[in-house]
Amino acid sequence: MQKRRVLVATGGGDCPGLNAVIRAIVKRFDHEEEWEVLGSMEAFNGVLKDPMEVMLLDDAAVSGIHIRGGTILKTTNKGGPLAWPVVDADGSWHTEDRVEDMKERLDKLGVEAVISIGGEGSMDIAYKLQQRGMNMVGVPKTIDNDLSATDVTFGFQTAVEIATEAVDRLVTTASSHNRLMILEVMGRHAGWIALSAAIAGGADVALIPEIPYSVDGVAAKIKSQMEQEGFAIVVIAEGAKAKDGDVVSKASTEVGYANVLYGGVGHQLNEELKKRIEVDSRVMILGHLQRGGTPCAYDRILSTQFGVKAAEMVLNGDFGKMASYHNNTVIAVPLEQAISEYNFVKQDSDLVHAARGSNICLGDKHFR
Ligand code: F6P
Repeated sequence: MQKRRVLVATGGGDCPGLNAVIRAIVKRFDHEEEWEVLGSMEAFNGVLKDPMEVMLLDDAAVSGIHIRGGTILKTTNKGGPLAWPVVDADGSWHTEDRVEDMKERLDKLGVEAVISIGGEGSMDIAYKLQQRGMNMVGVPKTIDNDLSATDVTFGFQTAVEIATEAVDRLVTTASSHNRLMILEVMGRHAGWIALSAAIAGGADVALIPEIPYSVDGVAAKIKSQMEQEGFAIVVIAEGAKAKDGDVVSKASTEVGYANVLYGGVGHQLNEELKKRIEVDSRVMILGHLQRGGTPCAYDRILSTQFGVKAAEMVLNGDFGKMASYHNNTVIAVPLEQAISEYNFVKQDSDLVHAARGSNICLGDKHFR
């Protein structure tokens, strides 16, 4: 007899812990005789392609994958049912709505519900699909930790570990050469990784998108730090910007990629500092190293909790919601809440207070 089916997809940028979520979903459904789990390759594109790229996920398919980075289902930030890219004769491209087509394809597969594991973009798509009659459950992923309605997303802690190790390693080379080292980390809208790694690594300056910085102020802090200690460390989020400046980003030329590309603010800051102070300096962009490799134990645990919760939300018919971690409890929150705004670092938070209190310059005030 045909079993009831749930489809799982991973969308947006990859992130350590995706495989652990997939594994937990499959393991939880393994307790339910009448259900089976399908995986769509490359987010929903696997369902929309001809032939479809959809696979059965059983216990054997997910065995041991919780320790592997990336996603066995692959992922993409291009395409999907709401904005399927179509290349025109002149080489330009436009997007088409393929939601009805996808619904028909899922009906043919016997899929009753969909678990979408992704960040803000994927939760937005999940919300819109729910509005258009699909049974959607979301799981919050992003190393940037910028998704609302959850205290934390999986992947973030692993990224912080990697960024902190980078700070630790830059300290020894910076102190040996009496240099300023500028470490640029990910974080387009929110500075969680930069601030956390700066605190954990004991950096001198942390610059985040939420607090536009004064280059003169940062220069003064670096100068005094170089005089006192002989070296200095700055951690800057890719989405940070100077008080009178703009973010350093450019449009992508890739077909179907709607996001802007960030990267380079560390170099821009370095040039501006050199106009103000004499300092030997180097810039390091950590980039996708933060997204690769095995998830830390915390993220494996959180991913497993989210996966089991998402499976149970499907079993209970609790649709239009996202699994969320709040006050040490895994709960279900409306998708709408998750996409209402970004989860920014709050200026009056204890984290910011600890950074300022431990003499980390955030680029706005409290220079020494
Ligand atoms: O959203 C996570 C993130 O890592 C951002 O910080 C970064 O700007 C972006 O993804 C880069 O994504 P990609 O290179 O996959 O397009």
